[in-house]
Amino acid sequence: MTGSSPPLHFIRLQDLTDRQIEDILDLSERMKRGASRAELATHTIGLLFFRGSLRTRTSLVAAVHHLGGHTVNLTAASDFWELEAQDGTIMDGAAPEHIRDAAAVMSKYVSALAIRPKQAGQSWTMDRKDMNIQAWAAHSQVPVINMESCLWHPLQALADLLTLRESLGNLGGNKLAIVWTRSPQPSSPSVVHSILHGALRSGMNVSIAHPPGYELDESVLDAAQTSAAERGVELETGLSMEDAAEGAHVVYARSWHSLETYGNPTLAASQLARAGTWTIDEAVMARGEQAGLMHPMPVRRNLEVTDEVLDGPRSLILAQAENRLHTQKGLLSLLLRP
Ligand code: CP
Repeated sequence: MTGSSPPLHFIRLQDLTDRQIEDILDLSERMKRGASRAELATHTIGLLFFRGSLRTRTSLVAAVHHLGGHTVNLTAASDFWELEAQDGTIMDGAAPEHIRDAAAVMSKYVSALAIRPKQAGQSWTMDRKDMNIQAWAAHSQVPVINMESCLWHPLQALADLLTLRESLGNLGGNKLAIVWTRSPQPSSPSVVHSILHGALRSGMNVSIAHPPGYELDESVLDAAQTSAAERGVELETGLSMEDAAEGAHVVYARSWHSLETYGNPTLAASQLARAGTWTIDEAVMARGEQAGLMHPMPVRRNLEVTDEVLDGPRSLILAQAENRLHTQKGLLSLLLRP
């Protein structure tokens, strides 16, 4: 929302009410079926990437163009420089500019700022504060959209919710199995934190499988347990792949790094070696109730999920990736509505 009221930022799914999420999903469905709107005809959206992206970058640029708007698409290191996030610091390090100033200036040029920050990768205690995206939100005069921080990936969650809705109809009472998968370059748990929150909020029962030491962020899990209790749904964690997938309607695969060994590559490598094989194959999928397979991508074939499952009739990964486009159109329409 623009004008004199404070901007509505989208840092995590919790920034939206249930009604707003429903409205976005309804509008996204209509847009997917072909409804066109020039909602962003007078708008320019700034996209700032501090690390790489294939889907988020392309789908957001396309979404803005479909709505009649323009993008300014900047990559840190090649197009600009490091930015300081800490307030009150003496800026004698690598960053020549503070996010406070960059956000204030960019707010004069664009209608919304979408940011994909980079994690420092030294300490989860520090990175889980999401200091960079929070600094952008604190100092921007226009809506800030989180394109995946350490803790949250709300854009992915919107697309995931639409995909679940298309596949299952009413989500209440269905079971989502979130399964850790093996990767030499695990991701942040941001995607899993976001869909965990979104699924519980939609009334789904959730089971989470992971090897020992790969527990999700403690505060996120505590909030998830509270959310599950409030809604009377089940949340189980620390299961095997097979137990999590038992009776599931959708299996959601994702690799994430251990928060126990975060910032220590040597310990992280030996922990990963001990984790063993975690590949989703037809045998795991057969535990479900004709379960669909979701993965936010990029996916390592035959390491995280077998070709047979990824390319089989139960795979939802392409619909899920396509829905990034439609749900981002729905979100932008809501955020920038006068
Ligand atoms: N799922 C997702 O965010 O993909 P990218 O990292 O390619 O943007």
